[in-house]
Amino acid sequence: MNGTGMTDINLNLAVDTLSRVYPSGEGQVTALRPFTHTFQHGMTAVVGPSGSGKSTLLNLLAGFDTPTSGRVQVGDTDLHALDETGRADFRLAHYGFVFQNHNLVAILSALENVEFPLMLAGVPPKERRDRARALLAQVGLERRTGHMPAQLSGGEAQRVALARALVSDPAVLLADEPTGNLDSKTGGEVLELLLAPARAGRTVVLITHDPEVAARADFTLRVKDGEVKEESRVLV
Ligand SMILES: Nc1ncnc2c1ncn2[C@@H]1O[C@H](COP(=O)(O)OP(=O)(O)O)[C@@H](O)[C@H]1O
Ligand SMILES: [Mg+2]
Repeated sequence: MNGTGMTDINLNLAVDTLSRVYPSGEGQVTALRPFTHTFQHGMTAVVGPSGSGKSTLLNLLAGFDTPTSGRVQVGDTDLHALDETGRADFRLAHYGFVFQNHNLVAILSALENVEFPLMLAGVPPKERRDRARALLAQVGLERRTGHMPAQLSGGEAQRVALARALVSDPAVLLADEPTGNLDSKTGGEVLELLLAPARAGRTVVLITHDPEVAARADFTLRVKDGEVKEESRVLV
């Protein structure tokens, strides 16, 4: 994010022979087999059975985990060539995250949670407060700004987490089962909030178990035993 709060929304996310092998007791688990792919702008759904490697892929895309081979390229940046601090700054500027559990900071209000990434990015107080308010309004929570996470319903907390993920208008939005703990109506609302940036040209990567959610995405990657395959869409 630069001083005007604008990020380069055209950053391309690509992976080249990306793989991850975890040590496991005496042996090893191949969680992700070498995978090469360019993520298109819009929404890519990542589907597949439990334990197939979906979260491993997302954690590598995020730079939370280190690949056994290959690279994650975001625009001109090789994510894993950065040091820890560089990667953290890069994430702050270009990434948004949503997880199955909202991961809100318990001692901060809804508004403060949404402001938090902007504070870390050095955005001045008035500007960050205004933007956080605007985002909470966008997710329909303008009346919950002063609530603490424990005072919010599951769906409300997840919408606060979305507002926090979207507040810096990131080029890349990564979501791991964000609707997994929600009823279908609330899950649908959260999905709409993720589709909006996808339609605005951001790159959204969404892990989901729900075929109805996956059907709304522009592209699908199917993961099975660590192998990722592009699924072609039959247009009807
Ligand atoms: N940190 C880790 N250490 C060892 N094995 C792991 C680790 N993370 C994931 N795995 C293994 O890698 C495989 C893929 O896991 P994961 O990516 O979490 O699957 P999914 O998200 O599709 O359910 C599983 O067999 C899992 O046990
Ligand atoms: Mg997972």
